Amino acid sequence: MYSEAFKESLKAVEAAREANIAYEPARMTAKEKEDLLAAYHPDYKQDEFSILQIGPNKGEKVPKELAEMLQAHSRIAAGDVDLTTPDYDVDVLIIGGGGAGTSAAIEAHEAGANVMIVTKLRMGDANTMMAEGGIQAADKPNDSPAIHYLDAFGGGHFAAKPELLAKLVGDAPEAILWLNELGVEFDKAPDGTMITTHGGGTSRKRMHAAKDYSGAEIMRTLRDEVLNRGINVVDFTSAVELILDDKGNAAGAVLMNMETGDLLVAKAKTVIIATGGAGRMHYQGFPTSNHYGATADGLVLGYRAGAKLLYADTLQYHPTGAAYPEQIFGALVTEKVRSLGAKLVNRDGKVFMHPLETRDVSAASIIRECSDRGEGVDTGSGFGVWLDTPMIEKIGGEGTIEKRIPAMMRMFGKYGIDIRKEPILVYPTLHYQNGGLDIDVDGQTTNVKNLYVAGEAVGGIHGRNRLMGNSLLDIIVFGRNAGQHAAAKAKETEVGALTLAHIAAFDAEREAAGIETDAVSPKLLPDYRYNEAEQSKK
Ligand code: FUM
Repeated sequence: MYSEAFKESLKAVEAAREANIAYEPARMTAKEKEDLLAAYHPDYKQDEFSILQIGPNKGEKVPKELAEMLQAHSRIAAGDVDLTTPDYDVDVLIIGGGGAGTSAAIEAHEAGANVMIVTKLRMGDANTMMAEGGIQAADKPNDSPAIHYLDAFGGGHFAAKPELLAKLVGDAPEAILWLNELGVEFDKAPDGTMITTHGGGTSRKRMHAAKDYSGAEIMRTLRDEVLNRGINVVDFTSAVELILDDKGNAAGAVLMNMETGDLLVAKAKTVIIATGGAGRMHYQGFPTSNHYGATADGLVLGYRAGAKLLYADTLQYHPTGAAYPEQIFGALVTEKVRSLGAKLVNRDGKVFMHPLETRDVSAASIIRECSDRGEGVDTGSGFGVWLDTPMIEKIGGEGTIEKRIPAMMRMFGKYGIDIRKEPILVYPTLHYQNGGLDIDVDGQTTNVKNLYVAGEAVGGIHGRNRLMGNSLLDIIVFGRNAGQHAAAKAKETEVGALTLAHIAAFDAEREAAGIETDAVSPKLLPDYRYNEAEQSKK
């Protein structure tokens, strides 16, 4: 199966393994990191970004694929629906059925609200389900939320909104207890204490995990809780436009049945956007570790209705997406593989970086290795570097891989690669949207009242780079927070007359800016159909 060049490189990696295990690579200096990022990180490629010409963030840059969606036409015209006879009338409407949406639903329901989740696929079809490595919380005696804050603030280039990050780390220990009590099967030592590991950029071991399917285990538990509570879930139905009331407050959404295309009106006292990420936008042509529905819908819905974005120009490329075999190109290889001791090595078997630098730095370092330095391995369809997984068994003992990262073992095992015995090839994959809608500490958008946001659609919690395990944490902390606040706000809200006037206002703005586009948004699903015209350009 492997080419001759592959085999030669593999021999070099095997020959260097013992020495590489003993070798402790130096951490990069701040200056080295800055220079590396500027030269190799995709966020720094200016020609891949466009300046927004309309909307609340006019004048700011975002990835060009996102700019097209943010400035596109609505999928509907105001006259397509009758707002006077809503199909649903609820207290809290939650758009999105992943970890943030379900956490919000549970808390809003707990507070006595009439809650509805609407999701374009099924509840649980979300990035949460795909999360592997774990969830951070400073709940060990040698750790504290203050230390967690410092790690995350530095890792995010000191750009996080301080009040949001303080809430994230401060509520983390309680979030773990909440999940544990709901039934999440965290990895525990025989005495019942939680097993925790390091992630990139953490100064303490605070990653709690359920092997390497932490997200699936959390999502399983949240979904069960939503079902047990009898919360109304409308599957295969997307939100295509927010509805405002005559006071300019969020007051519901126009929904579209994904199968029939029929439009429905959901009126609500408060709305929570929990639509997740944007990996399926494939910015800069990158593959993605994301779920099929991750198309930045929430950003589009919020933006057209007047909500501001924060840091929408910053994306996270997970350093270790699978680079080989092609069938799993871009699939997530959890950072936990490196937490357990595997190092990144180049074509010649040389360790070229500390394995637990922050993600943006690690990704840029791998890209450098595979470009200018010519030290990447040619996979036949691209380049990659080795992640020397057999080191894990040598360090932790036989059986460690099967016990701690069984999903990784299975994923590669399907293609005849036994990661206990041979290293794997990795390359960065589009993983996370660092930016999103700007919220206050209650989870409400800073400029559209009664519109809340939780999870990956939020910007500002992590700054300009997120540490591993802080996303599973933010969906719980800010999902619950949004659910509590949206339910409380619903109690004091009188919804005014419903309107979709913002669509025409946005159209007028687009026309005045001279933007000519046929694009419609939100995207809803990626289009992987063969396109002859596109292919002939390659
Ligand atoms: O590497 C991982 O398991 C990913 C974790 C995360 O994005 O938090």
